[in-house]
Amino acid sequence: MIHPANPESIARAAERLRGGELVAFPTETVYGLGAHALDARAVAKIFAVKGRPYSSPLIVHVASLAQAKSLAASWPPAAEALAQRFWPGPLTLVLPKNPQVPDLVTAGTPTVGLRWPAHPVAQALLEAAQIPLAAPSANRFTQLSPTAAEHVRRSLGEELFILDGGPTDIGLESTVVSLTGAQPLLLRPGMVSQPELEAIVGPLLSRAEEMSVSAAPGLHPQHYQPRTPLYLVPSLSFVAEKNVAFLALAGQSAPEFARTLYAKLHELDQQGWDAIAVEQPPPGPEWDAVRDRLFRAAKKD
Ligand code: TXA
Ligand code: MG
Repeated sequence: MIHPANPESIARAAERLRGGELVAFPTETVYGLGAHALDARAVAKIFAVKGRPYSSPLIVHVASLAQAKSLAASWPPAAEALAQRFWPGPLTLVLPKNPQVPDLVTAGTPTVGLRWPAHPVAQALLEAAQIPLAAPSANRFTQLSPTAAEHVRRSLGEELFILDGGPTDIGLESTVVSLTGAQPLLLRPGMVSQPELEAIVGPLLSRAEEMSVSAAPGLHPQHYQPRTPLYLVPSLSFVAEKNVAFLALAGQSAPEFARTLYAKLHELDQQGWDAIAVEQPPPGPEWDAVRDRLFRAAKKD
């Protein structure tokens, strides 16, 4: 059920999370499906509700830098520098995990993805619950991520406790950077861009494109998909068929286009089109995250 976020509903949600139940909540990127990150039985419910394979690790959301550090086995200078610059915000740092983080959260890997979100409702919930929250995007596996409470309800059902904080601001999932090797590695592009990261920590390795599913846990090539087939086209003149929706860039900047992309795809997906044609984003690192999600959304068998 959808509950408008206010101090009372946030307190109830926090109580549920402490008791091992699931709660969907807004972050500045997309809505998350949260569970007590240190309670393996609670975390198992996430995989069941999403239909998600156990090979996909979950991001652990924290209320402070201190809480993030308490969940990592080490905290290299690059983690400190990136956290100081981008937290709270849409950046996930993958670090060696502390033994208290259940293997279920990390898909059996010795690393954990950590994020301190910037959304005021997420922050209030984390502070009220006083526990770290494992939270993937609150959608069924491979489907589009939700950027509004209604998207969550449609994907995961009426039974779920959903905190409604309105439409999300960034609209695409966080940037994921691994700090477990000799050089930082960009695992998933996001609206914190590669040049912004490199300004803080120097050159990044970027393997997202060629990495296999097993090498990049959770980065399945077919992901973020609407039910309606999606294609990328250079312009409207490439759309020949009649019953095809066209989503234009319309002169928007990358952050502007990203903010409403999923909401528009959710909407078009409800309208019975034969296909959705999306205008190809221009080159340039600020479009990397949008391009990544659109390629995955367009990927066919
Ligand atoms: O913006 C976001 O990141 C949203 C909100 C809710 O925070 N969450 C999200 O979660 O997108 P999810 O589960 O849909 O994507 C998490 C991805 C995984 O699929 C994986 O690629 C990466 O983050 N990840 C998490 N933990 C990791 C780890 N220990 N090692 C490698 N990659 C990891
Ligand atoms: Mg997801």
